[in-house]
Amino acid sequence: MQLKDVPSHYDRAARWYDAGRSILFDRLLHIEQEREHTIDLLGDLSGARVLDVGVGTGANLPFLVSKVGPSGSVLGVDYSEGMLARASARVESEGYANVELRRGDAVVLEGVEGDFDAVISVWCLGIVHDLQAALARALELLRPGGKLAIMDFRSVRPDRGPLNWFFPLYAPLLRASGIDSREDLDAERYEARWRDARAWLDPRIDVLHEQRYLADTGFILVGEKR
Ligand SMILES: C[S@@+](CC[C@H](N)C(=O)[O-])C[C@H]1O[C@@H](n2cnc3c(N)ncnc32)[C@H](O)[C@@H]1O
Repeated sequence: MQLKDVPSHYDRAARWYDAGRSILFDRLLHIEQEREHTIDLLGDLSGARVLDVGVGTGANLPFLVSKVGPSGSVLGVDYSEGMLARASARVESEGYANVELRRGDAVVLEGVEGDFDAVISVWCLGIVHDLQAALARALELLRPGGKLAIMDFRSVRPDRGPLNWFFPLYAPLLRASGIDSREDLDAERYEARWRDARAWLDPRIDVLHEQRYLADTGFILVGEKR
């Protein structure tokens, strides 16, 4: 998604994003549970400095805050002010004292300085306008030995099963929801981006864990910076 399009897609989606996530990703597809699992795969984070790229409404924050503990901290960055407003309301209502939220482009992360102990990104990197540059920046901000955790979709169309058969039916609904841009719903283009990005990433991290979810549509990758 082009950077200029992020606010128009996500500021609007922010109003229903958490409710939609809870119905679709949690109750229907049961993939929300992979979020906590991904964060657990980062191992012991007590006292750690963690960066959440594309923090959105802050769905990772409850798990991250409890894992870093009072001596750790979390920085969440997102380009959508609407999504950040939701995250900020969550921080306030939950009284998270060690969370900072900033507006910024995931590709540039302007003004953000290393060395982070961990960088996490859930369902964001696949849609940023320059995936490889975003990965390079994330790695630059990680200390050597720091952990990178990505949970994302590998493809917009599952390879098999009911979600594959019904793709032609629900693809227009996805488009109509206004959350994904037309280019991000192009299954071939989307898959190729992750294939190239993965080839770029492989020599730069030691893979600690890798798995797929939702009929191989989604993936979780946890690695350690070399
Ligand atoms: C599907 S949401 C995921 C939000 C959150 N990580 C979650 O798990 O619910 C994608 C997020 O990526 C953000 N985003 C997209 N492109 C971005 C960019 N170039 N820089 C920063 N944030 C971006 C959007 O604003 C949105 O909040």
